[in-house]
Amino acid sequence: MLNNFLLKRLSEIESGGLLRTLNTIQSSPASTIRINGKSFINFSSNNYLNLAGNKEINEAAMNAVEKYGFAGTSSRLICGNLSIHEKLEAELAAFKNKQASLVFPSGYQANVGVISALMSNEKNSCIIMDKLNHASLWDGAKLSSSRIFVYEHCDMNSLEKSLKRAHKYEIKLTIAESVFSMDGDFTPLRDFVELCQKYGAVSMLDEAHSTGVFGEEGKGLAEVFNVSNKIDITVGTLSKAFAVQGGFVCGSRQLINFLISKSRAFIYTTSVSPAICAAALKSLEIVKRSDAQRSFLLKTAEYLKNKLNKLGLNTLNTQSQIIPVITGSIENTEKTSSYLREKGIYIPAIKPSTVPKEQSRIRISLTSGHVARDVEKLIDSISKIV
Ligand SMILES: Cc1ncc(COP(=O)(O)O)c(C=O)c1O
Repeated sequence: MLNNFLLKRLSEIESGGLLRTLNTIQSSPASTIRINGKSFINFSSNNYLNLAGNKEINEAAMNAVEKYGFAGTSSRLICGNLSIHEKLEAELAAFKNKQASLVFPSGYQANVGVISALMSNEKNSCIIMDKLNHASLWDGAKLSSSRIFVYEHCDMNSLEKSLKRAHKYEIKLTIAESVFSMDGDFTPLRDFVELCQKYGAVSMLDEAHSTGVFGEEGKGLAEVFNVSNKIDITVGTLSKAFAVQGGFVCGSRQLINFLISKSRAFIYTTSVSPAICAAALKSLEIVKRSDAQRSFLLKTAEYLKNKLNKLGLNTLNTQSQIIPVITGSIENTEKTSSYLREKGIYIPAIKPSTVPKEQSRIRISLTSGHVARDVEKLIDSISKIV
């Protein structure tokens, strides 16, 4: 019975062009990958500083395995809280100029764990979301019992309208990404914090795609706009520029104490492996000294964006290493992605519900490991299909 039901659902999903399938990568997921024995330039990873497979990080992880073994063995609240977890959290808090931080097994879990803990059982609370916030932020909001207001993407007039509509709520949590994962554009952070302060809202910023890439030592976009001290809750991930795994939240000591007591995504899961903590500590050290890689990456991104725009392609308002090329329909997006695959370039199609309807796209994700030859090949290949 279940299988018949699932077959029917799968065929509906497939006929809508929305069936998701897995590609098998036969190499490490670096800037060149192998699929079915063939080599591709990979423009789809979040390995922004090209640290995946870094020898120093690998070595730190292996040494930690020797010292602690791999397993966390239980929740942080039982016997899974090792000194290396606390060391990583102290370093991450210092990096983000906050009092304290808490590590989660993934960035997804951090977002869900923070929002659902803060906003559950709050009869008088509301959440104010950018329309294009990441699924993990939406899922956290949906797990809360709060009323949700949505503002137009990166539109501060629309945010202000929502804040006015939300005036009667005692606790208002406003949530945005600093660099948006699928559009590569920025929340206007100065206006964002000013509005949150004006209307007495708590500010939460997801810096998953800006940490490591923007700001002094890669501290993120809030640091670039000089507003880090005005953001109440900062979330980051260890899985993108850090090329490790895990997520973290930074904020006041009280916020972290509260999450330790109330965040189900933190409490009811086994602690992050000590090997991951050691790898993340080493990665953080490298990220901080990677100014040359950051500047190379952002210059390449600017160059590529300008070239694509000259070809008449719509790259939305990207200002980052994430460059969307809007291909519109699902069919056209699949066609573009397959054509690039034939040319030895790997950029999967991004379709609804990850992005809005008719906004399907290929999402070019640059890393500091891409050399000029890779980028020129991409431009040349795309120019033949526009
Ligand atoms: C904006 C944003 N936040 C959070 C996450 C989740 O991070 P992780 O991959 O570490 O679970 C992602 C990853 O896709 C993301 O794009």
